Amino acid sequence: MKAIPIRTRLTAWYFLILATALIGFALFALRVMQKSIYTAVDEQLEDRARDLQALIARSSSGGNVATEIREHAELQSGSELFQVSDSAGQFLYRSPLMQRLGVPAARTDRQQFADAQYGDLPIRILTAPATAGSRNFVVQVAEPMDDFVEAIDRFRSVLWFGIPVLLLAAAGGGYWLSAFALRPVDRITRAAQSITPQDLSQRLTVPQTGDELQRLGETLNKMLQRIESAVLRITQFTADASHELRTPVALIRTRAEVTLANPRTNDQYREALSEVLVESERISALIENLMLLARADTGTETLDFQRTDVSALARAVSAQAQTLAEAKELKWNAAVPDVPIWVLGDPQALRRLLLILIDNAVKYTPPGGGVSLAVDPAGDQIEISVRDTGIGITEADLPHVFERFYRSDKARSHELGGTGGLGLSIGQWIVQAHGGQITVESSTAGSSFVVRLPLPLGKVSSA
Ligand SMILES: Nc1ncnc2c1ncn2[C@@H]1O[C@H](COP(=O)(O)OP(=O)(O)OP(=O)(O)O)[C@@H](O)[C@H]1O
Ligand SMILES: [Mg+2]
Repeated sequence: MKAIPIRTRLTAWYFLILATALIGFALFALRVMQKSIYTAVDEQLEDRARDLQALIARSSSGGNVATEIREHAELQSGSELFQVSDSAGQFLYRSPLMQRLGVPAARTDRQQFADAQYGDLPIRILTAPATAGSRNFVVQVAEPMDDFVEAIDRFRSVLWFGIPVLLLAAAGGGYWLSAFALRPVDRITRAAQSITPQDLSQRLTVPQTGDELQRLGETLNKMLQRIESAVLRITQFTADASHELRTPVALIRTRAEVTLANPRTNDQYREALSEVLVESERISALIENLMLLARADTGTETLDFQRTDVSALARAVSAQAQTLAEAKELKWNAAVPDVPIWVLGDPQALRRLLLILIDNAVKYTPPGGGVSLAVDPAGDQIEISVRDTGIGITEADLPHVFERFYRSDKARSHELGGTGGLGLSIGQWIVQAHGGQITVESSTAGSSFVVRLPLPLGKVSSA
């Protein structure tokens, strides 16, 4: 089913509500008009009946009653509608107009109103009992209703013709108004349609109206901004990843081609293959890191959080780091408390984090320098710091070291091996996944990376 446009829906609702309100109002107005006319007529009829009842009550005999009424009638203009009959249904008096209409005598012992139609003339009759001494009479007074009925009819037809005209005009106006109000939405829709993934730098022109549409436009623009920077990041990441993969693959290929070009000794083949192996390992590590970051981005990389003793973990890493540092003639120093420090963490990931930091410290410190690892509980946090006396990081590089593929000096870094600037990105992700922070300080005297992790199990426990 085709969706109905908002504009039509708004108009339809508007029409429906207005129609209900107008018809309700018309019915109410008609009713009030009718009721007030009838009340006025009935009051007048009651007054006249009361006069006649009083007149009859004052007369002592039947003969007198008839004379009194006739005299009373002669005082009237003659256009009055009334008649008086006795209990046998015999008329004592009938006004000429009443006689002409031929309204029959009635019998009643209580006052009652009735609507009747005689020929073309609608009338309202009040029938009421009257007494003179012990004799009973019936008084009938009436009022022609033709003028009133006509007025009500006229009012009704004004309403029944006026309401549809009013409704049509209002619906037309409503349709136009909603189209007018929705026009900026159309404009935003058309502008949004013209934005393609190839050209995400475009922005919508936002109407400065301070209303919902301005908010919608600004929200869409902010969303475009986020999408643009995400796409840029992904494009950059893909380009960097391909670039990093190209270097070792080219090395392997060249090495293989050169080796195969001439006959070689066994030792030469062995040497070539071990070079191929080193480059392949680097490719594997790079691919593994890329996949880890991709999983981290999509939220599918899950950590296995458990009660982990950071002291024990740091001591184990320290043993491994010492060999690494001493191989490069660096002094190694570790300050790890003897008591267990429990955190809620993934031991594999935390181990990897420490190795990333120590690997950098060793890599970027020339022989003769020193690298240290320290673990300190500080309040409800634990501080793990890795310091070195190496080449340091310039102020310009400092804000970028956690970015993917960022290296302060690409040529130098490739000689040093590694996966080309992913280490700290992965380290930062691990720290953040543990609810902690990582900070870096650096000078020409060396660098220091400090990781702070929360201690959800409370202060240091000796258990
Ligand atoms: N301790 C350090 N001293 C000096 N510079 C550092 C230090 N640690 C990191 N850096 C700088 O930060 C950059 C990013 O570090 P990162 O660990 O992310 O990448 P990498 O070490 O170059 O490569 P890999 O992916 O193998 O770790 C490094 O290239 C280096 O320029
Ligand atoms: Mg590194």
